[in-house]
Amino acid sequence: MKIICIGTTKGGVGKTTLTFNLAGILAKMGKILIWDIDPQANLSCNTGVNIMHPNIKTTKDILEKNTPPAEVVIRSPIKELENLDIISSNLGLHETEMLLVNRSAREFIIKYYIEDNIDFFEQYDWILIDTNPGMTVINQNGFLVADSIVLVSDISDNAAQGVEQFQYMWQNRLKDFRMRDNIKALIINNFDKRTSLSNELVEYYKNNEDLTNLLIKTVIPSRVKMKETALEHKPINILDANCDANLAIQKIAKELEERGIL
Ligand SMILES: Nc1ncnc2c1ncn2[C@@H]1O[C@H](COP(=O)(O)OP(=O)(O)O)[C@@H](O)[C@H]1O
Ligand SMILES: [Mg+2]
Repeated sequence: MKIICIGTTKGGVGKTTLTFNLAGILAKMGKILIWDIDPQANLSCNTGVNIMHPNIKTTKDILEKNTPPAEVVIRSPIKELENLDIISSNLGLHETEMLLVNRSAREFIIKYYIEDNIDFFEQYDWILIDTNPGMTVINQNGFLVADSIVLVSDISDNAAQGVEQFQYMWQNRLKDFRMRDNIKALIINNFDKRTSLSNELVEYYKNNEDLTNLLIKTVIPSRVKMKETALEHKPINILDANCDANLAIQKIAKELEERGIL
């Protein structure tokens, strides 16, 4: 079982879109759990889970009540992908953030939860955790439990800033936790080869000594079909396998595997 957490400090760069679509590909290769720890719950909505259902159990129940995984995990929400399960989120997770402030070892709750329920979690080949932008206590739970953190950058003026800020902040936290750096990859999303900014940004990352080794060679193109994956509740490999964005994410999965991340 490998745990991968997707992060950066900037919103709207494609973290959730990458998590969702990479998960679609992985679900054809093994068993995967996607875990939404973002109160916005975009990943949960992408899979078609009804996050407003009165009886739904979510990440909030895990963090506040230690609810057992068998009660929280939603099995196969996408019918074409039997091997994909989800722990969903909802807006209530905002309150949880406040409740955690005074809790001891508050950054380790998810880590200990997985350890305490390892028999359950070991059924998965991968656990893919989607965060929201920033360094909240809940996000830190995801970053800390991850074997690998994968950063995502879009193409915009301040995209690199989001990546560098994340790297700076997390490396400082790692010193506090006496842990080794687990940031392992950087993926560029929304690439448009016609724009000079796209090419300039790739060059910038290639020439940046802190980031060049993290850079995944394959970039994800900007495609309307990628937007549709959320509305259709189906990852791109199910929705339109011939789309070049699907082929790109397949290649990215291969690169991540070669690097020992997947
Ligand atoms: N490769 C892409 N091509 C086109 N639209 C994309 C692509 N990646 C993400 N988007 C769109 O950009 C918006 C933000 O993406 P999202 O994954 O929600 O970002 P984040 O999780 O980082 O906040 C969404 O509307 C999504 O559909
Ligand atoms: Mg998101």
